[in-house]
Amino acid sequence: MPEPSFYSAVESRRTVRDFLAEPIPQEVLDRALDAARLAPSSSNLQPWEFIIIRNPLVRQAANAACLDQIPAKTAPLLIALVTHRDTWRRNRDEILRIFETRGPLRRSQKAYYRRIIPLVYTTGPYGLLGPLKRVFSRLASLFKPTPNLMAREDIRIMAHKSTALAAATFMLALRAEGYDSCPMEGFDPWRAKALLGLPRGAEVNMFLAVGKRSEKGVWWDRVLMPRDWAVREI
Ligand SMILES: Cc1cc2nc3c(=O)[nH]c(=O)nc-3n(C[C@H](O)[C@H](O)[C@H](O)COP(=O)(O)O)c2cc1C
Repeated sequence: MPEPSFYSAVESRRTVRDFLAEPIPQEVLDRALDAARLAPSSSNLQPWEFIIIRNPLVRQAANAACLDQIPAKTAPLLIALVTHRDTWRRNRDEILRIFETRGPLRRSQKAYYRRIIPLVYTTGPYGLLGPLKRVFSRLASLFKPTPNLMAREDIRIMAHKSTALAAATFMLALRAEGYDSCPMEGFDPWRAKALLGLPRGAEVNMFLAVGKRSEKGVWWDRVLMPRDWAVREI
């Protein structure tokens, strides 16, 4: 049986571009953030960070970095969702530590997190090893199915994919709580990164304007592509 509250959250979620001033209660925000942390991620490496912007001066600069879009300016809360391509080692160690608190590591856990993950994620000084790994994987794939032994750009894509899933989970959780959001990719990535003091391997995945929709929050009725452009059976 479908879960009605899940589908009503999915169907009623819209990109909201004009918000009421009413702040979002901390407990609602915390529940939505904790739901987002449950999102699936590549190798469970959870490469995301939600930066909740509370400082008014930072907020003003963040609005400007978001090109002063109306949702950024009207939302009671703005969040920068950051993706980290360089936290894999720290997070891998944490996964192993948690596994170890649950008993002896299984062989598959050891092999995956101690050998395969470093092989896939290490790209060497200046990322120079990456293209070699990629060429090697492409050649090996001519002979047998081979995963992409990633270059830096592949790792970046991986981190953004997983982070976007956390964003989707967060937005749906907010909707289930009766709150709204606007995901924003329209921002200046260099200014945003400098403003938030992000390290080299981090980037803003998207900004999320959060609050309750005003009467003019939804700008038009939903527009959907034909189903057979989106779904295909082979
Ligand atoms: C990654 C991403 C970036 C987006 N960037 C912006 C943005 O910068 N400004 C904006 O107004 N809407 C932005 N949107 C919202 C989309 O325009 C919106 O999701 C789409 O038109 C579908 O409408 P709906 O979300 O109401 O179903 C973005 C959505 C996504 C997923």
